[in-house]
Amino acid sequence: MATKRSVSTLKEADLKGKRVLVRVDLNVPLDDNLNITDDTRIRAAVPTIKYLQSHGAKLILCSHLGRPKGVTPKYSLKPLVPRLSELLGLEVCSLFTRVKMGNDCIGEEVKKIVDELPEGGVLLLENVRFYKEEEKNDPEFAKKLASLADVYVNDAFGTAHRAHASTEGVAKYLKPAVAGFLMQKELDYLVGAVANPKRPFAAIVGGSKVSTKIGVIESLLGKVDLLLLGGGMIFTFYKAQGYSVGSSLVEEDKLDLATSLMEKAKLKGVSLLLPTDVVIADKFAADANSKVVPASSIPDGWLGLDIGPDSIKTFSEALDTTQTIIWNGPMGVFEFDKFAVGTEAIAKKLAELTAKGVTTIVGGGDSVAAVEKLGLAEKMSHISTGGGASLELLEGKPLPGVLALDDA
Ligand code: 3PG
Repeated sequence: MATKRSVSTLKEADLKGKRVLVRVDLNVPLDDNLNITDDTRIRAAVPTIKYLQSHGAKLILCSHLGRPKGVTPKYSLKPLVPRLSELLGLEVCSLFTRVKMGNDCIGEEVKKIVDELPEGGVLLLENVRFYKEEEKNDPEFAKKLASLADVYVNDAFGTAHRAHASTEGVAKYLKPAVAGFLMQKELDYLVGAVANPKRPFAAIVGGSKVSTKIGVIESLLGKVDLLLLGGGMIFTFYKAQGYSVGSSLVEEDKLDLATSLMEKAKLKGVSLLLPTDVVIADKFAADANSKVVPASSIPDGWLGLDIGPDSIKTFSEALDTTQTIIWNGPMGVFEFDKFAVGTEAIAKKLAELTAKGVTTIVGGGDSVAAVEKLGLAEKMSHISTGGGASLELLEGKPLPGVLALDDA
């Protein structure tokens, strides 16, 4: 069970008849025809929105989409309106009409729609990043957003690591400024469960480069009992130990760092497990020839793309002893089916352990994508909606979007 983190939440706010600016993270992937290819983030925003509706608030939702430079039609939030309306049951509900949307996120047109909103009505503002002032955290822009509402709710965990006008600046001008349910849940798991874990506590860290995971490994070394490493980063650790790594991905300038992380683990009494065998390929491709070899002897011309069966067995047995597991980063190149076996095995193991009462937390874009691809998302205790935000939180960095809220 996750431990609570203190920050004011929307349950403490007076909402009846109030105009509530809700920062959500609706930065969802769209295909070339502007169809939503993954609606996870929209679904994750629904509990807060429904709560606000049922408590008589007038909702003004705001979000970014992509990284537009100025007004760019393909980054409009308009294609999200039908799905959002459907998830809120607004197509069929006779009391409210579907989610409303204008052409801007500030200004007279928007103000007029807000004035006409009934209690429980929902307006979605246009992409806040159409204004460069958003990412600059411009106070005047933040004030304009704030002027639309009486209450601020931040439920955009995925963007909480950005100090932008709609995530941070606006909280200075709009009180109360409280966390939504998604934000609260993410903090409960990623801060609470990690700070006060049921032990033994294990972290599984994967991904292609050790350089992008240094912060998270260092921070977790102070907290976990067991650290399992996988993904492309392991070859830097192997090389640091004098193994032959063939053509595998190695960060030559991080060899000393890998050695020092292994020493730190020893000093802190953390059991650090590296894969004992690897699946190697003769090229970086889905149809490459492959074979399994011991981790210490990758032949020249071959490169490691996944952890091997012996490693899966060792990792699974080690995880069997744990009560809390946090997973960040895939075990191999899971985008290629042939090299997705290690990642799949870890995902299935975590699903199995969750059913036995182990707390399992998956944070980070790629491991979340892998779990979702396997249809196992519902089987984990918590799947984070924030890639960058969860990584920064696990590194122990404060999130500006959280710090700006009341009582944070
Ligand atoms: C994300 O997808 O990680 C968040 O929505 C933040 O987006 P950004 O990296 O463009 O700020």
